[in-house]
Amino acid sequence: MIQGQGLRDKGKVQNSYPLSLVPFPLGGWFVKLPELKIGNKTAKIPIVQGGMAIRLSTARLAAAVANEGGIGLIAASGMAHDELRYEIKLARSLTDGIIGINIMVAASDFAGIVHTAMDAGIDLIVAGAGFSRDIFGLGRASGTPIVPIVSSVKLAKISQKLGAAAVVVEGKEAGGHLGTDISVRELIEPIRAAVTIPLIAAGGVLTGKDIVDVLKMGANGVQMGSRFAASLESNGAPSLKEYYLKSKPEDVVVINSPVGLPGRAVRTPFSKRVMEGNVPPKTCDSCLKACKHNFCIVRALTRAQQGDLETGLVFTGEYMPRIEEILPAKEIIRRLVTEAEEFYQP
Ligand SMILES: Cc1cc2nc3c(=O)[nH]c(=O)nc-3n(C[C@H](O)[C@H](O)[C@H](O)COP(=O)(O)O)c2cc1C
Repeated sequence: MIQGQGLRDKGKVQNSYPLSLVPFPLGGWFVKLPELKIGNKTAKIPIVQGGMAIRLSTARLAAAVANEGGIGLIAASGMAHDELRYEIKLARSLTDGIIGINIMVAASDFAGIVHTAMDAGIDLIVAGAGFSRDIFGLGRASGTPIVPIVSSVKLAKISQKLGAAAVVVEGKEAGGHLGTDISVRELIEPIRAAVTIPLIAAGGVLTGKDIVDVLKMGANGVQMGSRFAASLESNGAPSLKEYYLKSKPEDVVVINSPVGLPGRAVRTPFSKRVMEGNVPPKTCDSCLKACKHNFCIVRALTRAQQGDLETGLVFTGEYMPRIEEILPAKEIIRRLVTEAEEFYQP
């Protein structure tokens, strides 16, 4: 499709135009994507870069996304407090945009990480892999917007009641730990009908058209993981990013995580061993509140982040095999927004 064709000649605005309409150089009109408001922060574009542990989404990626008007999330799971403080400070030095953290509720140090991020003045906290009621009180006390990741109407309603600033609604297509086997496209409408807080759809969103589809269903924004895991600023080793590009749909598997949830990964010799039986860790840092001890997830994800594709666990979203290029975050967002604005009609 020619850029802008979808909306060319839309409206007959001559001398002035509403804020949501921007002129297209060839004479047509694009409708701008809506902003995404979470608590007292407003992102110019409704795109959140999902938190990706261990150390895949660090300051550089989060800041690159925030610089384009989106929301960048530093994955705090597995980080020491000093490291997290350093990453938040680094991100702040790289952008004036919106920076949050993502943390696994299942982590033993969940409350400690939340306090550290709040003390460092983080803009928002996204909490996944489990559900915490306590975090909402902490958010209220410090004035930090709390955004839980949910996959059901029930948890979305509880989140709103407890004071969530927004919910990330994550479907089965997502990367990392999974809370459901239902597609995000089936989850959005019932959750939209049940809550009034902003709804951010996650799982399987790769293109501008995907963004428009979920906005039409009632989402206010999207959270994207896979597309940014395979970006220039993603903090994974080059060999990990190449591995992502080479992956095929049949290479994407689901393993049992020691967290007690299924996790989506690209097949590696290590994931094969995990699927065949336990690979008990030789040492343990007790980093999870309740660990199944079938393998050490922090070490396995760290090995993959460092490029060890034999003994590493490579988390991925279902549609990673559709990604063909490692691109800078700026270019990824430029393409997403250009395509989305071709299709978007409020
Ligand atoms: C490599 C990878 C690591 C991830 N790690 C985390 C994590 O630490 N915490 C979390 O809440 N979600 C995690 N996710 C999920 C993403 O934040 C995001 O919600 C999800 O990937 C969206 O689906 P998509 O990959 O299809 O865009 C991870 C996803 C990927 C691909």
